[in-house]
Amino acid sequence: MTDVRIVEVGPRDGLQNIAALIPTEKKIALVDLLSKCGFPEIEVASFVSPKWVPQMADGAEVLSGMTRTAGVRYTALTPNLRGLKRAVEAKVDGVAIFASASEGFSKANINKSVEDSIHLFSEVATEAQSAGLPVRGYVSCVTDCPYDGPVSPSDVVRVVEAFAAMGCTEISLGDTIGQGTPDRIAAMLDAVLLVMPAAQLAGHFHATNGLALDNVDVALEYGLRIFDSAIGGLGGCPYAPGAQGNLATEDLVVHLEKRGFESGISQDALAQASQFAKTLKGPE
Ligand code: HMG
Ligand code: MG
Repeated sequence: MTDVRIVEVGPRDGLQNIAALIPTEKKIALVDLLSKCGFPEIEVASFVSPKWVPQMADGAEVLSGMTRTAGVRYTALTPNLRGLKRAVEAKVDGVAIFASASEGFSKANINKSVEDSIHLFSEVATEAQSAGLPVRGYVSCVTDCPYDGPVSPSDVVRVVEAFAAMGCTEISLGDTIGQGTPDRIAAMLDAVLLVMPAAQLAGHFHATNGLALDNVDVALEYGLRIFDSAIGGLGGCPYAPGAQGNLATEDLVVHLEKRGFESGISQDALAQASQFAKTLKGPE
């Protein structure tokens, strides 16, 4: 029995920001190493437009080439019905939709207003659920937007409520550019917890400001027990200038253990995956 659930997002949120195309075999090798670590869920691909994110164009090949481990849910990001169709054909176990709390990032990342994106994602969620797939919702820019600056908690609540109404099984709260401070994460959670229980919320922190683990601690205090992280601290978003790595899974696991939370992740397997992930990083 584990106390915390770690969702490994490295193969998607980590690799998507690396400019040089990584060979598919290396992505498969990374997923296979991660499959040995004990994660309940690994986000392995995204079926977004290859014109927007060329690095993620080979999602179907990653899913068909990797070795599935029983008990692991392999998921992918789906931006629209076309992406969902590709994800279903690739036999994902679940999908994730992603809306921004702020207008600037929404426009830059998916070329839509927040409201239009909510309509679109509602269709994607309905179709995914009819295909029997659980739907995770990401809210990006929960405290700061690279285009609009500080984001108000009420803007986060608006997207969380929309995702809840769509039947998302879990909602991940993303500090996309890593500018969130513990007090502002707390203010955001104060608002969000009025509309969604902690058990269905995940903390998704980035390492930019060096406060990711402090933000994890705040989220723990608020009762959150699901965290996203990326092996090797890979990551960032190509449409979020300034976003650096996601919180490194290695750091998260050690930190949680020190705090007395069992994650069920094998440290040995994680070390191997970490060593390999670091070879995939582009020039710093
Ligand atoms: P658009 O240009 O407004 O729409 O893009 P479009 O429908 O005109 O599509 C453009 C082209 O892509 C067309 O091709 C489409 O057919 C094609 P053309 O007609 O020019 O030849 N296309 C597709 N091809 C394959 N699969 C598809 C697909 N959709 C369209 N699914 C769109 C709108 C939403 C598609 C685009 O903006 C997009 O893909 N954006 C995704 C950007 C992205 O992946 N960002 C990173 C993920 S979000 C993130 O990292 C934050 C998060 O991790 C949280 C955090 O870290 O805090 C979640
Ligand atoms: Mg991220």
